[in-house]
Amino acid sequence: MAKEKKIFFCTECGYESAKWMGQCPGCKGWNTFSEEKVITGKSGKVKPAERVEAKKITEVSAEEEVRLMTHIEELDRVLGGGIVRGSLVLIGGDPGIGKSTLLLQMCSRLVADKVKVLYVSGEESLSQIMMRGKRLNAYDENMLLLCDNDLDNVEAKIEKYDSEVVIIDSIQTMAAADIDNAPGTVTQVREVTSRLLKLAKTHNTAIFIVGHVTKDGQVAGPRTLEHMVDSVLYFEGDESEGVRLLRAVKNRFGSTNEIGVFNMTGEGLEEVRNPSQMFLNGRPEDVPGSVVIATMEGTRSVLVELQALVADTNFNMPRRTSVGVDYNRVNLLIAVLEKRAGMYLGNYDCYVNIAGGLKISDPASDLGVAMAITSSFKNRAIPSSTAIIGEIGLAGEIRGVTSASRRVTEAEKMGFTRMIVPLSNRSKDLDNAGIEVVYVKNISDAIHALFG
Ligand code: TYD
Ligand code: MG
Repeated sequence: MAKEKKIFFCTECGYESAKWMGQCPGCKGWNTFSEEKVITGKSGKVKPAERVEAKKITEVSAEEEVRLMTHIEELDRVLGGGIVRGSLVLIGGDPGIGKSTLLLQMCSRLVADKVKVLYVSGEESLSQIMMRGKRLNAYDENMLLLCDNDLDNVEAKIEKYDSEVVIIDSIQTMAAADIDNAPGTVTQVREVTSRLLKLAKTHNTAIFIVGHVTKDGQVAGPRTLEHMVDSVLYFEGDESEGVRLLRAVKNRFGSTNEIGVFNMTGEGLEEVRNPSQMFLNGRPEDVPGSVVIATMEGTRSVLVELQALVADTNFNMPRRTSVGVDYNRVNLLIAVLEKRAGMYLGNYDCYVNIAGGLKISDPASDLGVAMAITSSFKNRAIPSSTAIIGEIGLAGEIRGVTSASRRVTEAEKMGFTRMIVPLSNRSKDLDNAGIEVVYVKNISDAIHALFG
């Protein structure tokens, strides 16, 4: 028998509780609980006839994974090589970052390939989308738009039009009629997602759902959403600047460390095929504190400028700030510089920044951070034609990095003439590289190589 019950849900993470609580035990957020009605006891049991048997792994036949290409290379790569039919993809990002723009552009490319596309919007009116479509060159009679937030209708229309790719913009505006909670509540978001998941699998339709992001960078609504979908992509960037990064945080059909780089222009999103060039654009030449590092973003090496500023402190405690690199890592590297290179930074503030809004977690950036700090501390510039890679250990040793030759090749391609590389990465390839490769074993070697 179906029974109605009241449960409190955390609107941030979906934690369930029978009573209201001030602080969520799940995500530690304050004042996030809201009361929602749920129907329990519905018969969701599988009937005996539908029970499936286990199979030997060797007897499982491989179903061919069919992919649809969007021909937006940056997007295809993040998806793991195009859209997988029947997959459910969640795209999260701050409002106004360009999610709708990206998906509309994707649809126009698919339509050009005769793929049946349905764009469902619960946020904008038909004429708004049409006007944007015109501006983005996504104005094609085969492009179907639907403005509705009723899930039953959306499901029916997907069947009716036999859509191959569907956009749901956004999950927070969709509602299943048989649940009387408001759209955007935990119960609704969960129900809508699970029904879309079922539809995607049974109908072999690829569904992209747009999800808004809360202030601390989580997709609003239950975190269970991320477990239900096949892939989770985040679209991020600084709104004031044009650079937009598409990042996969979960992908059942590919690697998660690929990024797609775009530039927001008056004509929509433009792909950035050569991110190094963009990130190095406008870089100051021969200024103390500025270095270029080669980081890996997925399978691709990207050169970025890293800046440090070391200045006399006006406080009892020196300030350390980092943007784009891990704060604790910067502190660790400062400690290593003090202990292993005799650079006393206790009376200096240190600021470290990655230009262009990129966030780097690649350990190979360590040496770059340390050398940028050293350069600013000594007030001596590192030649702008030098790039640096290397991980630093607590003993001051420089450890090898992954894909060293790819990084060196990228630096060579971008016109650098000299590269500081860990000795343990030494190889024939690097010895024969088109640029001068300087191998270093420890932090003093590196300082010696750069500052004499
Ligand atoms: P939008 O795709 O609506 O963001 P989201 O769906 O993530 O909320 O993007 C809106 C922003 O993008 C808006 O501030 C204007 C900007 N924009 C451009 O600069 N150029 C364009 O061609 C378009 C369509 C949008
Ligand atoms: Mg939008």
